[in-house]
Amino acid sequence: MRTLVDWLDERLQIREIKVALFDRKIPKGVGWIYTLGSLSLGIFLLQSVTGILLAMNYSPSPQFAYESVSYITHQVTLGNIVRGLHKWGASAMVLIVTLHMIRVYFMGSYKYPRELSWVVGVFIWLIVMGFGFTGYLLPWDQKGYWATMVGTTIAEQAPLVGPALAKLLRGGDTLGTVTLTRFYAIHVLVLPALVLTLIALHLFFVVRQGISAPPERDKPDGPHA
Ligand code: HEM
Repeated sequence: MRTLVDWLDERLQIREIKVALFDRKIPKGVGWIYTLGSLSLGIFLLQSVTGILLAMNYSPSPQFAYESVSYITHQVTLGNIVRGLHKWGASAMVLIVTLHMIRVYFMGSYKYPRELSWVVGVFIWLIVMGFGFTGYLLPWDQKGYWATMVGTTIAEQAPLVGPALAKLLRGGDTLGTVTLTRFYAIHVLVLPALVLTLIALHLFFVVRQGISAPPERDKPDGPHA
């Protein structure tokens, strides 16, 4: 193993990556509240793994969606655990990412030079909401159907672009087969591709810039570097 690491290190300097990621100096006063970002990452990984496992048995068609979810819950080995983890993980993700955002806001960590981490974070937050909205329809039960009806009708009320947006989301004038296929494609293809790119960028910024120091009582406008 060591020989392999040496071999790679000689060519790619991989030990520098380890130092940048794990042996970094962190400012004094950094505490547990700073782990919310890593926890967000942990839940994102959980959602990715459980989501892939669910996709192995799910069918995105009105005829089979509900049945396939029922099949996952009652017949697939550990299916109810995987589904439960994904369902509760979705709520946990919204909660933890929002708490992370609140922590960053109240500690002023979004200020210079970390504005870009914040801006990318805002887009990540919106995508997390998008995951929740599109995922809710997938079991094709009454709750998901009517929640999506309400959601797309709200979108329809937006000035100028509303009707076109609702039509785009539903894939037509009514909520049906195309809506389910479209929501599934957005949930498993579009949003993961976007969020993966943005999380990679977000983490690159965090590693590159290091963590901000907690604000000091006596220096309200001091640099958070
Ligand atoms: C999946 C979602 C996210 C992941 C995986 C993630 C991950 C992280 C990690 C690991 C850190 C460093 C440790 C920490 O401060 O907790 C961090 C810092 C940061 N995050 Fe996030 N984050 C996410 C969402 C967000 C959102 C929604 C925002 C704001 C809108 C945001 C803004 C920031 C900022 C400004 C920092 C720098 C904080 C500092 O230096 O003190 N992040 N993020």
